[in-house]
Amino acid sequence: MRFLPVALLAASLSVLSSLAHTQGNAQAGFIKSDDERCHECHGADGNGDMGDGVGNIGKFPKLAGQNIDYLLKQLRDFRSGARDNDTMSIMAKSVNEPDLIDITAYYSSLPTMQGDGGGDKAKLQKIRTLYVQGDPARGLLPCQSCHGEAGKGGVDPGIPIIGGQHVRYLQKQLTEWRAAERKNSPGDIMRQVTNALSDAEIEAFSDYLSRQ
Ligand code: HEC
Ligand code: HEC
Repeated sequence: MRFLPVALLAASLSVLSSLAHTQGNAQAGFIKSDDERCHECHGADGNGDMGDGVGNIGKFPKLAGQNIDYLLKQLRDFRSGARDNDTMSIMAKSVNEPDLIDITAYYSSLPTMQGDGGGDKAKLQKIRTLYVQGDPARGLLPCQSCHGEAGKGGVDPGIPIIGGQHVRYLQKQLTEWRAAERKNSPGDIMRQVTNALSDAEIEAFSDYLSRQ
């Protein structure tokens, strides 16, 4: 009987290690993301401004410190066609599921993406108010209620960190949602959110968020 607790402990440890495995192995993910060429566009540091010249700056999203659940969902969406992008559809289909889990574990383990902290203070303050409070008069939900303070997440693992992301990438996503060209948010929530936004507001949100 004295040994029973040890056996139980061993059993629970094996459950834990299998859970740890499904969470992905970040060290293996580093090697796999290099082999699978993710670094060529998203960087080994996950800051995504690699590429073949000035024309590509800000085109490749930062993945550094991004929520793993969000990253995996995007890769599955690229694979199924729920999210449309020619390059990423090919990339996501070329990597098997266990490798994708390790790769996303690697990127999400990196120091979280950061902006430069600059920008026009008065302009940023104005759009920050809209970010924090929304606008009930036109049914605009506060971004902060889902994306957290300054876009740094922490509300739900399925909701991405957007503070510190590239401005060009942010602007493209918001514009595509409003045009119903990106359609993969749960309950089509991001389509509803962006529906109420003007071009100038999309630009201002992208500027504000990319600075954080
Ligand atoms: C040739 C360049 C290129 C390569 C190689 C590449 N990506 Fe991408 N990736 C992109 C681009 C461009 C986008 C943005 C697509 C868009 O604008 O919607 C993207 C988007 C993503 C996103 C969505 C990020 C977000 O914030 O929603 C993830 C996750 C991702 N890539 C992971 C990977 C992984 C993992 C690999 C390696 C298996 C990889 N990518 C290889 C160019 C690339
Ligand atoms: C009710 C919750 C909710 C609100 C409010 C909300 N979002 Fe989102 N947002 C989401 C979810 C969930 C996703 C991820 C969708 C997916 O799975 O593809 C997302 C995705 C995004 C992305 C894409 C990030 C990437 O890496 O591709 C951007 C940019 C974004 N939201 C900006 C905003 C802005 C700006 C506002 C306010 C004007 C806002 N969101 C309000 C839930 C919300």
